[in-house]
Amino acid sequence: MTHQHAPKNKRGLWSSRFGFIMASAGSAIGLGNIWKFPYITGMHGGGAFVLFFIFCILTVGIPLMIAEMIIGRHTRKDPVGAFKSLHGGGWLLTGWLGVIAGFLILSYYCVVAGWAVDYLWLSLKGTFTVKHAVQVPEMFANLLSSDLSQLFWQAVFMGMTILIVIGGVKSGLERANKIMMPVLFLILLILAGFGLNSPGGAQALRFLFSPDWSKLDPPAMLEALGHAFFSLSLGMGAMLTYGSYSDEETSIPKVAITVSLMDTLVALLSGLAIFPIVFTYAMEPAAGPGLVFKTLPILFSRMPGGSMIAILFFLLLVFAALTSSISLLEVVVAYYCDEKHWDRRKATLVMGGIIFLLGVPSALSNNILKDLHIIGERNFLDSIDFACTNYILPLGGLLIAIFAGWVMSKGIIKGELLKGSDKINLYPAWRFLIRYVSPILVALVFLNKAGFF
Ligand code: TRP
Repeated sequence: MTHQHAPKNKRGLWSSRFGFIMASAGSAIGLGNIWKFPYITGMHGGGAFVLFFIFCILTVGIPLMIAEMIIGRHTRKDPVGAFKSLHGGGWLLTGWLGVIAGFLILSYYCVVAGWAVDYLWLSLKGTFTVKHAVQVPEMFANLLSSDLSQLFWQAVFMGMTILIVIGGVKSGLERANKIMMPVLFLILLILAGFGLNSPGGAQALRFLFSPDWSKLDPPAMLEALGHAFFSLSLGMGAMLTYGSYSDEETSIPKVAITVSLMDTLVALLSGLAIFPIVFTYAMEPAAGPGLVFKTLPILFSRMPGGSMIAILFFLLLVFAALTSSISLLEVVVAYYCDEKHWDRRKATLVMGGIIFLLGVPSALSNNILKDLHIIGERNFLDSIDFACTNYILPLGGLLIAIFAGWVMSKGIIKGELLKGSDKINLYPAWRFLIRYVSPILVALVFLNKAGFF
C-alpha cells in the first residue's frame, strides 16, 4: 500500500490494444443497440431521428469518448478519484453523478437482460418454431405478466454479472469477447439480409433513412442525443474507467473511433433486421420496449434453420448485455475499491446485491406495479431509463466535455491524445469539438426541450 506504484499495478491492465478495443466495444454494444435503438426509433418516427442520432455520435460521442479515456488513462483512477486527483472541488460531483448513474442504469438493465435470458431459454425449448406470427407478441405479454419469472431471470443475469466482475479485468472475458462479437455481427447481417428481402424491406429502408424532419421535435432530439450517450456508454465514467486500464502505447482516438463506428453499425443492422418484420406483418413501429421480442421470433419461425439461429441470436444478445452490464458494475466497484479501499470481492457482492434490489420495482413494473407511473405515463422501469438517458448522462457528458475542454491542462491532454498515434494529428479537431461543438449542442438540446426557443 505504501509503495508508490502499488495501486497502479494492482488495478491490472488490458492485455493488448485489441483487448482494450474489444472490451470497450463490448461495453458499448449491448441492449442499447438491439433492444433500445429500434424501439425508440420506432416511437420517434424513423429517418430524421436516426440521422440526428448519427450526427450526435460524430460531433459529441466520439470526442467525449476520447476525453473520458484520456482522463482515465492519465489518472488511473475510478471516476470520482480521477476528478479528485485532477482538480477536486465541485468537479467531484461529476464523478459522483457517474457512480449514481451506474447504480440506476444497471438496476433496470438486468431486468431487460433477464427478458433476453428468458428468450434464450424459450429458444432452447424450441418454442419459436411452432408459433404463428400473431402468437409471438402474446408470448412477450405472458413474460411481462409474470413477476416471478422476471425476478428469476433478473437474478440469474445479475449473478452472472457479479461472477465476471469478481474475476477482474483480464479474466476469460477478453478472450470470449473476441469470438462472440464478430459472430453477433454476422448473425445480425444475416437477419438484416433476410429482412430486406421480405415484402416489408423497402418500406423499412425508407422508414429508417428517409427523414421527415417534422418528426424531429425537441423530445425526439433529446432522446437521440441521450441515446448516443447510452449506446456509447458515455457520460458516467464507464469509458473513463476502461481507459484507466489501458497501456501507454495505445492510440486512444483510434480506439474511440473504431468502437463508435462498430456500435453505430450494430444499431443500424438491428434496425434493418427488425423493421422489415414490422412492416411485413403490419405491426406498430411505435410498439415500445417489447419491439425486438415481438418481431424477431417471427423471423426465426419462418427462415430455414431458424430455431438454431434463434438460439445463437439470444445467446449472443445475452452475451452482449453481459459485456455491457459488467462495465456498469465495474464503475461502481472501481469506486469502492479505489476510494473506500474495499476488496474487489466484497465491493462486487455488496453493490451487486444492492443494485439487484434497486431493480426489483423495475421487474415488477409491468405487472403488480404497472399503475405506478413516475414520469408521465411511464412505468417505473421506463421512468428510470428515461431519466438516466435524457438527463443524467447528457448532464454528465456536458460536465466532462467542459472539464476536458476548458479545465484540464492542455499539455496533459495533448500528450495523452498523441500517444501511439502516427501520422494524423487529431488534436486541433478534437479540441474544437470538445470545447465548442459538444457542450453547445448538449446545451441547445436541453434548452430546446425546456421550451426556451
Ligand atoms: N452501452 C450499453 C448498451 O448500449 C449500456 C451501457 C454500458 C452503458 N455501460 C454504460 C450506458 C455506461 C451508459 C453508461 O447497451
